[in-house]
Amino acid sequence: MSAPDKVALVTGANRGIGLEVARQLAQAGLKVVLTCRDDKKGKQAQQELASAGLAVDMRTLDVTSADSVRDLALYLRKQYGRLDILVNNAGIMLDRFEDGQPVMSIMDCDLDQVRRTMETNLYGALSLTKELLPLMKENHFGRIVNVSSGLGQISEMGAGYTGYRLSKAALNALTCMVADELSSENIIVNACCPGWVRTDMGGKNAARSVEEGADTIVWLCQSADGSVSGKLFRDREEQPW
Ligand SMILES: NC(=O)c1ccc[n+]([C@@H]2O[C@H](COP(=O)([O-])OP(=O)(O)OC[C@H]3O[C@@H](n4cnc5c(N)ncnc54)[C@H](OP(=O)(O)O)[C@@H]3O)[C@@H](O)[C@H]2O)c1
Repeated sequence: MSAPDKVALVTGANRGIGLEVARQLAQAGLKVVLTCRDDKKGKQAQQELASAGLAVDMRTLDVTSADSVRDLALYLRKQYGRLDILVNNAGIMLDRFEDGQPVMSIMDCDLDQVRRTMETNLYGALSLTKELLPLMKENHFGRIVNVSSGLGQISEMGAGYTGYRLSKAALNALTCMVADELSSENIIVNACCPGWVRTDMGGKNAARSVEEGADTIVWLCQSADGSVSGKLFRDREEQPW
């Protein structure tokens, strides 16, 4: 890819894996639009990257708000006239824990929390994809990376984390659907599990740094070869769904 012309957007990029993805994409020379639902936190993240010599654009975005997503799409069209890379990273895990352990039984799941999780982790990514695809299609280029999780793999599905598992399994399905629809348009759509990463969500005992967690996501964003789409990756290797 000829990096300077490309515009990349990362959701939930004020902290954790999203901030690190924004950092690595900016380091690679892409024009990065760091998005965040809280303007103040977004400016802090933007400033953090600026201190490291990385200039990024920052826009507020709540992925659960249709108006917010539409406003962002209008801004991108006006400001850049293109979007090349979309990283659907924003995510929440609301499932209950007791004594540090996830509540395992489906009988104890909180349906309201499941619905709220779907709003962010699934419908947020769907809404961004729907609104931003027209820009990608106009330029005949796109890379979409959906940040999923091993907890959403049907082949390894187990009990617990009900809302989170359902949302990520559905995000995986969305990845396949969009990839299939766009297979002839040079718009590549893949899902990625970052592994267990030390962030607010992953906790301090997680095995991986944010740099390690961001690696495969950034690798997929920069995939010049359009041959692999509609797949799940971890550690740059394809994984079973
Ligand atoms: N950490 C892990 O071990 C791990 C493992 C597998 C997959 N993942 C996935 O990796 C992604 C990033 O996780 P992380 O560990 O970096 O989590 P994190 O530190 O909790 O960060 C989550 C980010 O998502 C944002 N967000 C939440 N709801 C949003 C909304 N409605 N609109 C816009 N942004 C929203 C948060 O913004 P606020 O600051 O405003 O809350 C924050 O920036 C998630 O999709 C997660 O499911 C993480």
